[in-house]
Amino acid sequence: MEVLEKVKKQIRNFVEVCSYPKALELLEKLSTGKMLRSKLILKIAGENEESIKLCAVVEMIHAASLLHDDVIDDADTRRGKPSVNALYDNKTSIMFGDILYSRAFTELSQMDKRVAYHVSNAVTELSIGEMMDVDLTNSFNTSYDTYLTMIYKKTASLIEASARSAAILANLDSQKFANYGKNLGLAFQMIDDILDITQDEKTLGKPAMHDFKEGKVTIPYLYLYERVEDKEYLKSLYKKDLNSSEILWIKEQLNLTNALEDSIKEARETGLLAINSIKDEKNSSELVAIMKAMIEREF
Ligand code: FPP
Ligand code: MG
Repeated sequence: MEVLEKVKKQIRNFVEVCSYPKALELLEKLSTGKMLRSKLILKIAGENEESIKLCAVVEMIHAASLLHDDVIDDADTRRGKPSVNALYDNKTSIMFGDILYSRAFTELSQMDKRVAYHVSNAVTELSIGEMMDVDLTNSFNTSYDTYLTMIYKKTASLIEASARSAAILANLDSQKFANYGKNLGLAFQMIDDILDITQDEKTLGKPAMHDFKEGKVTIPYLYLYERVEDKEYLKSLYKKDLNSSEILWIKEQLNLTNALEDSIKEARETGLLAINSIKDEKNSSELVAIMKAMIEREF
């Protein structure tokens, strides 16, 4: 059996323990996505019973956070499929999130103490990151540091904990792998925020240029705000349903000020920090390749 299939089977087994058929029915409704966190764990720790359990625990936590996030964001789709809140309702999405999350924690409590500490701590960070993300949509944020703290907590913390925990299981230098995971997570979120501007709806599977309308001032907009002459006009477009000439103005200014180019540069440099943390470790070539594939793509 392919190893990611083993992880999926482990997740099913963990949910079966609940002896509640609806939980399994709901599990079938989720699409698993790229399983990035599992791929990293398996590359670092190799394939064994403990690493597969860790993958299942982390994927269940991640899935729980998305079940809650889709309620918070009022999203109808997740990974190209109808979300659980759309198929059922908000209550079901939250309750199923709680089931996945608590089942994962029961299993986590039986694992290596350090792994349990780092993964559970990352979930607090994740939750604070989500709250910061929502709070930051109240008004135009101009602080790059605040943005960085938010994406670290919301996205990078669980990836960092996954890489660190895998290294702990494999007796490797956990700090180096934690750094890799952290910077990979940061670069991943920056790239996601850049693609919102550069890609069309068809490629994204969700409306393009949506973040600014949703109140999210992401890295390209932060650089743009710093550099653009007419800051008041930019602010006046915040959270607005943009017409085509307004979209054109934003895109022109992003290019004229190099805000977009420098955002891509920053994401790539963050990706290189990830690579540099582990490049001298043995068996790191696939981890380097994962990061390279992410930063060397077409924007
Ligand atoms: C997606 O962000 C959301 C997250 C990565 C984290 C959400 C975290 C929580 C809801 C708190 C943790 C809760 C539990 C139960 C573990 P996004 O909305 O920017 O991305 P999207 O476009 O994929 O929705
Ligand atoms: Mg969301």
